[in-house]
Formats: sequence, C-alpha cells, structure tokens
Amino acid sequence: MSTFTSSEFRQALGNYATGVAIISARVADGDPVGITANSFASVSLDPPLVLWSVDKSSSQCDVFVNCEYFAVHILQEDQQQLARTFSDDDADKFNGLIIERGVADLPLISECSVVLQCKVTNVYEEGDHFILVGKVVDMRAGSVEPLVFFSGTYTRLQS
Ligand SMILES: Cc1cc2nc3c(=O)[nH]c(=O)nc-3n(C[C@H](O)[C@H](O)[C@H](O)COP(=O)(O)O)c2cc1C
Repeated sequence: MSTFTSSEFRQALGNYATGVAIISARVADGDPVGITANSFASVSLDPPLVLWSVDKSSSQCDVFVNCEYFAVHILQEDQQQLARTFSDDDADKFNGLIIERGVADLPLISECSVVLQCKVTNVYEEGDHFILVGKVVDMRAGSVEPLVFFSGTYTRLQS
C-alpha cells in the first residue's frame, strides 16, 4: 500500500523541471497527429536513441503505439502557445501551421528549429503509459532558448 496519494506523487514529480516537446506522427492516410510531451529523454549517443511515453488515455495513443516513425520538436521559450494547442484535445492542432514532410512522410512543424526524426525500435507497456524508444535517423539541429515546464507551469531559464 502506498504511503502517498496520486496527487502527492504528481506534485513531487513537478519539482523536476523539464523541457517541452511536441511529438508528431502520421496516421496511415498521411494525416498528422501531435501531442505535447515532457516525458522526452535521451537514452543513448551511439546508437542515437531517445524515448518518450504516451498516456493510454490519449485519444492518439493507438496511432503513436503503432507508428513506424515519430518526430520530436523541442520547443523554445516563445512557443508556449504551440505547447498549449498540442495539449488541448479539442484543438485543431495543425491548423495554420506550415508542415514539411520528413522521412516516411513524417509531419514536421516548420517553425521548430530542433527536430529529431526517429524510427521506433521498441515499445514497452508500463503502468498507464507506453514507452516509445526511437533511433534518430535524421535531424534539424539548431539551438534554442528552451521552453521549461516546472511545477505545472510553463516558464523559461533565467540568466
Ligand atoms: C507540459 C505537458 C507535458 C505533457 N507530457 C505528456 C507526455 O509526455 N505524454 C503524454 O501522453 N501526454 C502528455 N501530456 C498531455 C497531452 O499533451 C494531452 O494533453 C493529452 O494527451 C490529451 O490530448 P489527446 O487526447 O488529444 O492526446 C502533457 C501535457 C502537458 C501540458
């Protein structure tokens, strides 16, 4: 039996500041899907591997779990609105965005300067999430002043 509640657990995790990413993929007919995620992490440099996890309750979970490729867009501090749009299940997420197509027709958001295109290597079911591990097969590597998520709030690095 746990000695803490689920909201205490969530609050504890909120102390861990993260960046914010949008993960995109495409459904079979080519339509894009996308989700705001802060579960993104690097795994390995050689080979270049990354991971993120998708909530089983996401309406897009099936697409991500079955996709062959996903793209990770690392957001910069002035892209908070993009983060909000892609975490809103009612939003028309790609409306008004310029989309390029990457490997295997992967939808890429043009205004993002750091984008990793990944081929799924493994999917693990753990608790109420699936963990997707991907090998980075191509990337657009700029550098950003990152958007930060901390204690349930968007913020930025202070200099
Ligand atoms: C900062 C932030 C980080 C999030 N990280 C994740 C994540 O790593 N994985 C995930 O499945 N959902 C994450 N979410 C929730 C999704 O973005 C989204 O709100 C939820 O899946 C509902 O949308 P959908 O049903 O259209 O997918 C995050 C939300 C926010 C605001």
